Amino acid sequence: MKSGNNSRRAAGREFARAEAAAKFIRAKTKLRPRIAIVLGSGLGAFAEGLDLATRLPYARIPNFPRSTAIGHAGQLLIGKSAGIAVAVMQGRVHLYEGYSPAEVIFPMRVFARLGISAVVITNAAGGINMSLKPGNLVILRDHINLLGRNPLTGPNDDRFGPRFPDMSEAYSKSFRAIALEEGRRLGIDMHEGVYAAVPGPSYETPAEIRYLRTIGADVVGMSTVPGVIAARHMGIRVLGISCVTNMAAGVLDKPLDHDEVLQTGNRVSGQFIALLHAVLPRLEADLKA
Ligand code: HPA
Repeated sequence: MKSGNNSRRAAGREFARAEAAAKFIRAKTKLRPRIAIVLGSGLGAFAEGLDLATRLPYARIPNFPRSTAIGHAGQLLIGKSAGIAVAVMQGRVHLYEGYSPAEVIFPMRVFARLGISAVVITNAAGGINMSLKPGNLVILRDHINLLGRNPLTGPNDDRFGPRFPDMSEAYSKSFRAIALEEGRRLGIDMHEGVYAAVPGPSYETPAEIRYLRTIGADVVGMSTVPGVIAARHMGIRVLGISCVTNMAAGVLDKPLDHDEVLQTGNRVSGQFIALLHAVLPRLEADLKA
């Protein structure tokens, strides 16, 4: 089984590649964040408000994939937000860009090597549940992986995590409660729901959206799930937040376009930033509890 040996070696190399990136990042800042934030399309403004930020374009970090999607800047920032040290990804790479699952989850593996133990993963998503409106923030309760790929396919490196990781609480129950509570306290119309991940890049057809509604999805998007699976594999706790940037295909009698996605993201970024500021100190406290 020559190819089996080769893929086992490749899997072993991922650990060293992630460690090399983490070593580079550690040398650039004295901060040692325990919380990371992945900013989705149109939600990048949060990064502008970071204190003492060290900016590292992905192109400078060893082995890091570079993003090409419009609305994704492509840099890692290490700074403080609401007094809490955080690592922030402004921009991410997606399977629809042609990256392999291993490339898509690489930043998450680097986070684990950096000592990150909680990650806030945000995204732009289409609203499937009829009670949602564009601009709503949805705390993810669970997901359905329809990407046709699992980033843990292939030989397992036990240094990252177990062969068969549990996914029964993919999105931390206590993080969800914190986010809903803080959002409501801020007067934000908060929702909770299930995220369906589809490959894209074409948006869904109305029939696909009816199917997704039938199987229990509330929002749909093209990201997030590989990162969540990789995070859970390594024992990192996850808070997932979708910004409903548009109603999904067929819900309204109008076509979807990416400009609307970015515009809605920008419109709610004030609320989104306020929510993150309120939530971060409580996530940090929860990690210590
Ligand atoms: N479908 C898939 N992904 C998305 C959507 C959508 O309607 N909106 C933002 N990302």
